Amino acid sequence: MLKGERIKLAPLKREYIEKFLEWLNDPEITQFLIRYRPLTRDMEEEWFDNLKTEENTIIFSILLTENNTKEKLIGNCGLQDINWKDRTAVCGVFIGDKENQGKGYGTEVLRLLVKYGFNTLNLNRIELEVDDFNIRAIKCYNKVGFVEEGRKRQAVFKNGQYHDVIFMSILVKEWKI
Ligand SMILES: CC(C)(COP(=O)(O)OP(=O)(O)OC[C@H]1O[C@@H](n2cnc3c(N)ncnc32)[C@H](O)[C@@H]1OP(=O)(O)O)[C@@H](O)C(=O)NCCC(=O)NCCS
Repeated sequence: MLKGERIKLAPLKREYIEKFLEWLNDPEITQFLIRYRPLTRDMEEEWFDNLKTEENTIIFSILLTENNTKEKLIGNCGLQDINWKDRTAVCGVFIGDKENQGKGYGTEVLRLLVKYGFNTLNLNRIELEVDDFNIRAIKCYNKVGFVEEGRKRQAVFKNGQYHDVIFMSILVKEWKI
């Protein structure tokens, strides 16, 4: 359990699958993700079950705890493709609960996740890929300290257009500054 000021990152629960299915089948959300095919309950349950033995993936649910209200699930996040030799990982985050996007929660989530990656997992580098039109995500990543290190031109076709994919990363030596 990782506690922030207004949110906490907690273990996943099977009962959350319902919400994940709703969000991951919503084009307003998936336009920013790699996923574009319909996601079935079977697929999501299989993913959930496989996490138990997946050593290189760590996924948290994002729970809103602000105002001491009942905890509310608003999304999930995690570190994947963890490479224990090179001490790298790919980070991912999505806030599926649309009314809670753009309120600073994503930035708080990223800060907790990066701290966990560097302070607990002893990572040296955390990286991610983001579509060039996902300005909200890019701003959020910049605030946490991620920097652009390159881009793949016209690498994805979304909303009827080709878009660049931007590579971003943060190193432990930058994070500690
Ligand atoms: C990307 C995401 C995690 C960001 O979290 P968030 O809580 O919404 O973002 P934050 O409020 O912490 O920060 C967003 C920044 O973008 C700005 N912003 C918010 N909505 C915006 C919008 N629609 N367009 C442009 N900028 C926007 C905010 O003002 C803030 O910048 P500022 O602090 O300089 O003012 C979240 O929006 C999300 O999950 N989106 C859908 C899935 C996704 O894109 N995942 C990432 C895939 S790489």
